[in-house]
Amino acid sequence: MSSLIQALSVALDNRQPLLAELHQQGTDCYRLFHGSQEGASGLTLDRYGPQLLVQSFHTRLERDALLELHAAVNARLGLDLLLVYNDRSQGNSRIDREDAVYKAEPAALEDLIGHEWGLNYRVRGRHAGQDPLLFLDLRNTRGWVKQHSKGKSVLNLFAYTCGVGLSAAAGGASEVCNLDFAEGNLAVGRENGALNPQLPGMSFIQSDYFPAIRQLAGLPITQRRGHKLPDYVKLEQRQYDLVLLDPPAWAKSAFGTVDLLRDYQSLLKPALLTTADNGVLICCNNLAKVSMDDWREQVLRCATKIGRPVRDWQVMPPAADFPSMDNQPPLKTLILHL
Ligand SMILES: C[S@@+](CC[C@H](N)C(=O)[O-])C[C@H]1O[C@@H](n2cnc3c(N)ncnc32)[C@H](O)[C@@H]1O
Repeated sequence: MSSLIQALSVALDNRQPLLAELHQQGTDCYRLFHGSQEGASGLTLDRYGPQLLVQSFHTRLERDALLELHAAVNARLGLDLLLVYNDRSQGNSRIDREDAVYKAEPAALEDLIGHEWGLNYRVRGRHAGQDPLLFLDLRNTRGWVKQHSKGKSVLNLFAYTCGVGLSAAAGGASEVCNLDFAEGNLAVGRENGALNPQLPGMSFIQSDYFPAIRQLAGLPITQRRGHKLPDYVKLEQRQYDLVLLDPPAWAKSAFGTVDLLRDYQSLLKPALLTTADNGVLICCNNLAKVSMDDWREQVLRCATKIGRPVRDWQVMPPAADFPSMDNQPPLKTLILHL
């Protein structure tokens, strides 16, 4: 047995109890192998419903190794998962058109459906973006939102494909608003809504974060000297009961820079002001090099400084399919009760 198959076998052994629990909950999307912590840095294997998504970030997998992994997962799970291999090790090389194994079967590239917490999600092995359409390390947070959104107004910031919004709608939120500047991502959010027709509708705002959140928070929209601001969607000042703030590590737009390392505060401050009294702000930081302790201190200090002190907080770690030997998972999530 190759050392890679051995490492996979251990990872699958370790997940036995978790997978049984997830299947019970109506979840068939999860990480099967988290290479950085389980013996093959830069390699991940995820199940998305009927699909097995293999991704390599450092070196391309050889054909035989890939086929062996696929066969081993199918044998262990007793399934016939459709293989998609996205090699992300060289720039934009995830689609290799030369080899039939790297290309994937047409059936694997069709629009598929995965499930999480009993909800349906669009699964697409390849699309315009690099990342899968659902980030699996946020599953526990989506579960928390589903449990705690009854009767609440919910604002999902940096919504991507609106998984958090969908979870809030399923949890009985009185209204759900998803905000993102990428229409393609919100379009998948709409598809996710349509895949769950029993849920009440959600609303979608296609806007840059900075002008939108500053208007909601009642703050002025600042212009960089010598730069005319592009048009932006006009919004009224208002607050929401439950707000999720899950920004990317870094992104620049005409309105500002998202920079989780150097300036979390400029994202956090307006989000705090947009959260109602006695409301909840869930905030995330996915930068591995930022420690939970330092970041939490920064977050709590910022809240106190702007007069929205945090009454109570809790950490929401990813589930056991994202093991971390040092107990410092890259995705850090804080649930702040204001
Ligand atoms: C890390 S994803 C967020 C993940 C998401 N919260 C989820 O639950 O899956 C980052 C998202 O931020 C969006 N984004 C990046 N910069 C933005 C900006 N300045 N304004 C609005 N959206 C932005 C991207 O389009 C992308 O959908």
